[in-house]
Amino acid sequence: MAILFWKQREFSDIKGALSPTEISYLRKGLPRDLGDTHGEIIEFGTYLGLSTDLLNQHLRRNENHFCYDRFIWEEWMKGGTVGESFRELFLKNTEECVRLHVQEGDIQKYKWNGCGIRLMFIDAFKCKATASHVIKNWFMYMNHGGLILDQDFMWGMQQGIYEFCILWYYRLRQNIKPIVRVGTTIVFRVIECMDFCTLNRVLDTRPTFKELTECMNYWSGIVE
Ligand SMILES: C[S@@+](CC[C@H](N)C(=O)[O-])C[C@H]1O[C@@H](n2cnc3c(N)ncnc32)[C@H](O)[C@@H]1O
Repeated sequence: MAILFWKQREFSDIKGALSPTEISYLRKGLPRDLGDTHGEIIEFGTYLGLSTDLLNQHLRRNENHFCYDRFIWEEWMKGGTVGESFRELFLKNTEECVRLHVQEGDIQKYKWNGCGIRLMFIDAFKCKATASHVIKNWFMYMNHGGLILDQDFMWGMQQGIYEFCILWYYRLRQNIKPIVRVGTTIVFRVIECMDFCTLNRVLDTRPTFKELTECMNYWSGIVE
């Protein structure tokens, strides 16, 4: 009889921009919420690879993990020379990750034409153009039951730069439903898949005052 041994990968001490609650959710809560959905893992905003390492643990056989980042030191990061690349450090930190496809550069130079997605982790919605680009080019590939984790949600609301996303998510409420809030992250579940026409309408229609009021009421009911 064959005896199988396996060693659970140690979680490294990669420096990152996630709270302990978020780290704990990505380790333990996520598998429960993911259930048996299938598809690829997409990650926007890896920084040094903390979220990458945590997400990669949930990859199953025949699935891939695509991650996107500029890999350029910025002022707030305080770990290297501003303007220089931290790609090598990221690659070293994530060398144990499997089927990891690293996409370097601004997210807006990429589009998705791969398989269905079961998990999307967003930590790079720092401006309206990036958010709109991702919603337009990736959301329609989200599988039914899949999860979208927007790590920028509460942070963006506090900074007052997230009005656009709040409206877009509100308009998509028949498609994606917030299921839990973890730190500054809101976890959405896809309850109805999104098509190109829906996404274009959501992004391009100007809101009325009535819609904005309804949108704010909807969100205050969820996040307070
Ligand atoms: C807050 S950090 C991500 C933290 C990371 N998830 C972790 O676990 O520590 C945000 C990252 O998004 C990247 N980023 C922001 N906007 C981007 C864009 N438009 N294109 C590519 N990368 C971007 C930055 O380079 C940075 O590494």
